[in-house]
Amino acid sequence: MIFTSCDDQSIEGPKSYSKQDHGESVFVSSSSALGQVFFSDPRFSSDGRVACSSCHRAEFAFADTTAISRGVWGRQGIRNTPTLVGLHDDILLMWDGGVTPLRHGSQGILAALTAHRDQDMNPIDLEKKLRHFINYKLILNRLYPRHSLAAGYLLSIREYVREVATISKTRDRSAKNSNGIKNNFQKNIINQGLVLFQGKAGCISCHHGPSLTDGRFYNLGLDSVDPGRAAITLLEEDRGRFRTPPLVFLKKTAPYFHNGSAQTLNNVLQHYINGAGEAGQISLNSTEQNALLAYLNSL
Ligand code: HEC
Ligand code: HEC
Repeated sequence: MIFTSCDDQSIEGPKSYSKQDHGESVFVSSSSALGQVFFSDPRFSSDGRVACSSCHRAEFAFADTTAISRGVWGRQGIRNTPTLVGLHDDILLMWDGGVTPLRHGSQGILAALTAHRDQDMNPIDLEKKLRHFINYKLILNRLYPRHSLAAGYLLSIREYVREVATISKTRDRSAKNSNGIKNNFQKNIINQGLVLFQGKAGCISCHHGPSLTDGRFYNLGLDSVDPGRAAITLLEEDRGRFRTPPLVFLKKTAPYFHNGSAQTLNNVLQHYINGAGEAGQISLNSTEQNALLAYLNSL
């Protein structure tokens, strides 16, 4: 499926094999296709209203547009919903890295499902619920013959999340898109931004690799309430440290930072210019700032 954005960019999503008709006559042949259906089915939450896709919204590169999303029963979370794109198989999950990487099974999916504020669903209730959906039951038994229904549910969502993680930006090849192709002037500015990102501005020291994250933890001096990484390691030096996020589809994933405190990319940049804790302080004139912003907007 293709999610077309407001300009020349489009997000090419995993292939859809089925109608998302919530299990009534669903027919799917692969686990990730089944995972995609579950991803947007709110019935597997304690109030029956919240699905993964309520917060990880495909049209916003699987992030949300509010600083802090609301989960079941309108409960407010504590952190900004991150994009699911660019999460490579080995990266520790969540802002504090408290969950093992996708490579190691479905723990991340279970964590998301059971989190009190998200879907508040435990594996026992999940198993009971799944038994009531005859089609889901049949498909899960076929795809995961040696697993419980709940385990199959989690594993299929994991396969879908892994596919989402590898979504890459492609040019929409349709004709209406041709006017969106960047002119040389714009391309030059973006290139200057890239040079700054890798050089003078020093962003590359933490934002590197295929999705521009080193998977490590830093305190950018944003917040004093959330312990961040320290909640996992119990080390005082980790207080206020959060995982470097992937920089993908940035135009769509506002607001930014673990607490959603930066509304725009310019706000993010101003934070680095004013001094961003362990990331230090950068100094750029206004032409350079515009170039760096153009580069970030092009990601
Ligand atoms: C109420 C909103 C909400 C819902 C519903 C929700 N999530 Fe999330 N998700 C978040 C937030 C917020 C975080 C970051 C939490 C943290 O770091 O403590 C997150 C983090 C994640 C991560 C780790 C991302 C990263 O960058 O490390 C994955 C994977 C994930 N969610 C998958 C899911 C799946 C699968 C579902 C459905 C079973 C789901 N989420 C439901 C809000 C939500
Ligand atoms: C010392 C490592 C480090 C350096 C250097 C660094 N960053 Fe970051 N970046 C991070 C961390 C960690 C976060 C998340 C901080 C938080 O939310 O508490 C982040 C967050 C961001 C975000 C928000 C992304 C989102 O999804 O919320 C953007 C955009 C960003 N950085 C761009 C840059 C740019 C541009 C530079 C260079 C001027 C830069 N970073 C330099 C570590 C770094």
